[in-house]
Amino acid sequence: MGRLIVVSNRTPSPRERTQPAGGLTVGLRDAVRGVDSMWFGWSGNQVDDVKGQKVDKDTVDGVTYATIDMTPAQYEGFYQNFSNGLLWPLCHYRMGMLSFRRADWDAYLEVNRMFAEHLTPLLRPDDVIWVHDYHLFPLGQMLRDAGVMCRIGFFLHIPFPPWSVSRALPIADELLHEMTAYDLVGVQTEEDAINLDGCFAACGVQVKARAFAIGIDPDGFLEQAETAVKSHDGRTLRESLHGRKLILGVDRLDYSKGLPERMLGYAQLLKRYPEHLGKVTFLQIAPVSRGGVATYQQLRQQLEELVGRINGEYASYEWTPIRYLTSPVARTTLAGFHRIADVGLVTPLRDGMNLVAKEYVAAQDPKDPGSLVLSHFAGAAPELPDALLVNPYDADDTADALHLALTMPLPERKRRWHGMRDEVWKHTAATWARDFLEALHALPSPHDREPEH
Ligand code: ADP
Ligand code: F6P
Repeated sequence: MGRLIVVSNRTPSPRERTQPAGGLTVGLRDAVRGVDSMWFGWSGNQVDDVKGQKVDKDTVDGVTYATIDMTPAQYEGFYQNFSNGLLWPLCHYRMGMLSFRRADWDAYLEVNRMFAEHLTPLLRPDDVIWVHDYHLFPLGQMLRDAGVMCRIGFFLHIPFPPWSVSRALPIADELLHEMTAYDLVGVQTEEDAINLDGCFAACGVQVKARAFAIGIDPDGFLEQAETAVKSHDGRTLRESLHGRKLILGVDRLDYSKGLPERMLGYAQLLKRYPEHLGKVTFLQIAPVSRGGVATYQQLRQQLEELVGRINGEYASYEWTPIRYLTSPVARTTLAGFHRIADVGLVTPLRDGMNLVAKEYVAAQDPKDPGSLVLSHFAGAAPELPDALLVNPYDADDTADALHLALTMPLPERKRRWHGMRDEVWKHTAATWARDFLEALHALPSPHDREPEH
């Protein structure tokens, strides 16, 4: 059996304690552990000249990380503008935020071509290639153009909107046609598969998408949580609460995560249920993400104002309602924070899956589990009907759910948590990768296919 070649824009930093936040690297890292594999992607570095650059390779725990650099112009056009200034808002149904420029499309294609050029010489005929996410839609076709005959699968980690929305993308038709190069196209949910299939059909593309729900390594996360509550950070957080209940939010600082809406929901809790004043602390950890993109800068400013206003309005001289952090926190520490939290608050306006919701469930103490308040619009919602499901656009709905979560009797908390626990342990990162790769292997190999005439 050949190697598994994972390709994504973002790659983990295998030798560093604090990893870049993001579901793709977390889910995939858990999935490739122990598999003979190579992970190809961007190094995270920008250099002025990439002509003739060599692929940097580093092997850690059996996985070879092969990375290349980008120029500042490529970073701006490919990553900031096209991937995150256009495809990201489009796929998260935020039509008003789109900005299309042909020069960015050129940069997007240029970087995909650069990935194909550097990856092709590293490949062996029996490798299986697995391309990830919206940064690399056209990569499969470029690899085929370079003569690559391996099986190639593609997985989209973010939502995909229906044709009535995605047709706003001027190059939608071209992008969808390029996806015929993939042997298998996977998305997170049935809704995304229906939407993508509708787009394929509208453009006459002969591809069918299939849903594979990503998960986490729940055993590993639980173990980290159990250790971390006893660590210095865990003990310090608990002591700092002085017996108050803890509501925890953990997200990249991204407008798809519904952070301002969440703050308003919490403020509404304090207004409508004043019995919680001074008795609860909301800790929001939101490390800066894509800080060079204007819409992300605006969000940061909006949040700073909102947090300041809510704290100013409700704080007392010895209690601050919201603790807000924009610096990254180590994953091991976070696991402990989840276990300490009485309520996990996960309210994206739209999310491919949302691993944080699953991490909160995995980290709980079975003897005294906390409650999860979850948005209907997270890909994880259909899998977790035992969460307190809310519409994040409705601050009163969030406030009611928070009140219910903070006052829920133990037997009801246990009943809900057991339902969610079963799901989180059933659909893990490992089962997701196994199911996708088995489906890919079950298809006829490109080597055996009839040549097209
Ligand atoms: P996305 O992929 O959009 O960022 P997910 O919820 O699917 O959303 O995945 C986020 C991952 O990044 C989770 O594993 C989470 O633990 C991690 N993460 C999110 N916020 C932080 C943070 N503040 N510090 C460290 N890791 C974080
Ligand atoms: O999981 C969705 C995703 O967009 C990944 O593709 C990406 O790596 C992650 O979020 C974090 O974003 P970024 O790589 O832009 O920091």
